Amino acid sequence: MPDLSSQPLSAHAVVLAAGEGTRMRSHAPKVLHEVAHLPLIAHVLNAACGAGLASTSLVLGAGGAEVEVDLAARGYVFGVVEQSERLGTGHAVEMVSKAGQIPESPVMVLLGDAPLITPSSIRGALQKLEDGVDLVIVAFNAADPTGYGRLVMEDGAPVAIMEEKEATEEQKAITLCNSGLMAFGLGVLEPLLAKLSNDNSKGEYYLTDTISHARNAGLRVDYIIASEQELAGVNTRADLAEVEAAFQDRRRRELMLSGVTMQAPETVMLSHDTVLEPDVVLEPNIVFGPGVRVETGAVVRAFSHLEGTYIHAHAVVGPFARLRPGADIGVGAKVGNFCEVKKAVVGAGAKVNHLSYIGDASVGARANIGAGTITCNYDGASKHHTEIGVGAFIGSNSSIVAPVTVEDGAYVGSGSVITKDVPEGDLAIARGRQVNLAGRAPKTSKT
Ligand code: UD1
Ligand code: CA
Repeated sequence: MPDLSSQPLSAHAVVLAAGEGTRMRSHAPKVLHEVAHLPLIAHVLNAACGAGLASTSLVLGAGGAEVEVDLAARGYVFGVVEQSERLGTGHAVEMVSKAGQIPESPVMVLLGDAPLITPSSIRGALQKLEDGVDLVIVAFNAADPTGYGRLVMEDGAPVAIMEEKEATEEQKAITLCNSGLMAFGLGVLEPLLAKLSNDNSKGEYYLTDTISHARNAGLRVDYIIASEQELAGVNTRADLAEVEAAFQDRRRRELMLSGVTMQAPETVMLSHDTVLEPDVVLEPNIVFGPGVRVETGAVVRAFSHLEGTYIHAHAVVGPFARLRPGADIGVGAKVGNFCEVKKAVVGAGAKVNHLSYIGDASVGARANIGAGTITCNYDGASKHHTEIGVGAFIGSNSSIVAPVTVEDGAYVGSGSVITKDVPEGDLAIARGRQVNLAGRAPKTSKT
């Protein structure tokens, strides 16, 4: 990995994403399909940002407005060029140039549907530019090169990229392939674009023809190699699933190496933004939706589903916990079997252990919520808040009808339906009184 500290590697990113993605068979633009809850193209932008690229132009086609709106809403900053006619990868990059969006800096071309590219590979390509190369191809050794542009080499340097349709039988045997990602040194790109023609079997302007033009102009062309997996593009839902699996694998490994225990890593699904501190323990079969943070020493037990949740240090959730957005589980608290928590703070050391629903609520530190307790937060029109105090005790099978407050240290008898505030230290019992009728048990076959 290049040394980050020593280099102001700045470049402009051009992300090609005008493809129609028909093979996805989707109403949504291809690059908005998600891996780990983040659109494909946002992964690419994250990598560009991680590599220190200074600015970005997106080349978008049909459905471009949707892509633009989605990414802007996520806070990305970029220029957009609309390519209404898809005349090839060279044409796509030329549109950016014609729009005046190529600044005085090197240019890194990326693909919006190849989300696994790492900042380290992008930096590797830019480093070559710093070392005096004019044009860098990001290449890979293909298990099956069919369909890819082949790198034609002479004396260890690429002299051309031959597209499948143009390649001779001999060239088709080459397995060193073009990923579609390329870096152009300062001032190199635009003169090369001007030389492109569409005089080929697809009638397209191939960006890959810049290689032979660069050689003819006496420029230095070189390549770097990344893994085939890192450069994988998504064309179908099957590709999407493969890329998802690869992303999950990579991220789980990073987290394990950072100190997270995963008993069965292949059964844990992460979100792109899942934060797990060292010494978190994950049991098997856990799904992380977006926005989850788990602090050190916490345990997430099997079959839990979490999103928008903050789990503080040494808390234990699950097995079978469902934590929804706004759940905030305090230090050492427990949320156990078949419990659902939504938009609620569960205080430090509090216990919500069995079959409960806690929504729009605040549960004080060390409170105990008995089995089957429900906060009745919704009256059919609005949501209301429940406040349960420090050290309060809620007996099993109680309904707490919001808006209502059970104050610190108050005690609610089992089976209560609480509709009025319970003052500090009081015992509340709100259920039908039991009546025993002497000898009146009906005769049954069992008696
Ligand atoms: C391209 C490369 C090939 C490489 C392969 C890797 C060219 C000529 N060929 O081939 O060497 O091995 O990618 O997958 O560059 N796009 C546009 N506008 C266009 C055309 C394409 O934005 O007019 C975008 C597509 O959305 C896609 C990318 O560019 O993300 C690549 O285009 P695609 O048509 O898939 O190129 P390939 O023929 O696969
Ligand atoms: Ca392709």
